[in-house]
Amino acid sequence: MIKATADGETRSRPRLLLTRRLPPSVEARAGQDYDAHPSTEDRPLYRDALVRVAEGMDAILACAADRLPAEVIMELPESVRIIATFSVGTDHIHLDAAKRRGIVVTNTPDVLTDATADIALLLMLGAARRASEGDRMIRENAWSGWTPTQMLGIQVTGKRLGILGMGRIGQAVAQRARAFGMCIHYSNRNRLPAALEQGAVFHADPETMLPYCDFLSLHCPLTPETFHWLDARRIALLPDQPVVMNTARGAVVDDEALIEALRNGRVAAAGLDVFDNEPNLHPDYRTLSNTFLLPHLGSATMETRDAMGFRALDNLDAFFSGREPGDRVA
Ligand code: DGY
Repeated sequence: MIKATADGETRSRPRLLLTRRLPPSVEARAGQDYDAHPSTEDRPLYRDALVRVAEGMDAILACAADRLPAEVIMELPESVRIIATFSVGTDHIHLDAAKRRGIVVTNTPDVLTDATADIALLLMLGAARRASEGDRMIRENAWSGWTPTQMLGIQVTGKRLGILGMGRIGQAVAQRARAFGMCIHYSNRNRLPAALEQGAVFHADPETMLPYCDFLSLHCPLTPETFHWLDARRIALLPDQPVVMNTARGAVVDDEALIEALRNGRVAAAGLDVFDNEPNLHPDYRTLSNTFLLPHLGSATMETRDAMGFRALDNLDAFFSGREPGDRVA
């Protein structure tokens, strides 16, 4: 499609595949600046289907639920020069394969930090205070009235919160948890400067942090090193009856190990927003009363989803006007 510029010159607008339906304001901006091709189906496109709809496209605006492993990247049409993902996580895209193909990849950091940190706190409170059970009791009309011993949960005040991965989101979780009177421990590749650490206790080795985690919140990216990181051996290093929260990626947790620990009471409760093999999560999570489960809502506010879309488009704009995109990851 040809677009007229202010000085009357004409140039073709880059052809952009939108793999999923995006917030209306994001689709509107994409449609104004690009020859945008929104997916007709609001579900992930796999392999051949994705490769087929990418035919003739200059760019792909993808999402965290899309799958772009090496074999798909290798089969993408020659025309595709950039993939802008509408996510901070990039584990769904094989970055090395993209580099090998000379395809630029960008993500959307920063803009979802607060929304995701809020959800981590929701998971913490929901799991510790038995929110799913309480909600279910009311809906099933099974509440017989207040009693001094009914549905007692775990208080967060004064407890130790261990954060694995103290990047932007981990730091925002720590900031919120301090307001709940929690004492912060963290493990991260690099120790933070004192001004950012704000008294949090650093553990160079994440395993030495585990015995201090009355609450453990996962905020590390999914990599080969963090795959199934929270396994039976590491669960055994946690103090008695901890609460585990995950807003990172489901596969950081070994589901069988966590489910067994939830079942036998070794872990008191879990608040989970992300799951291995979403949306087909391990079915046993649904049957446990000590889980508080959300369908990957970390960044799901109207403000944040708009900001993610605009950030992805900013990256595409930079690329197509010959500048280095701000959030280039490959
Ligand atoms: C991300 O951005 O990586 C989230 O998981 C999707 O909101």
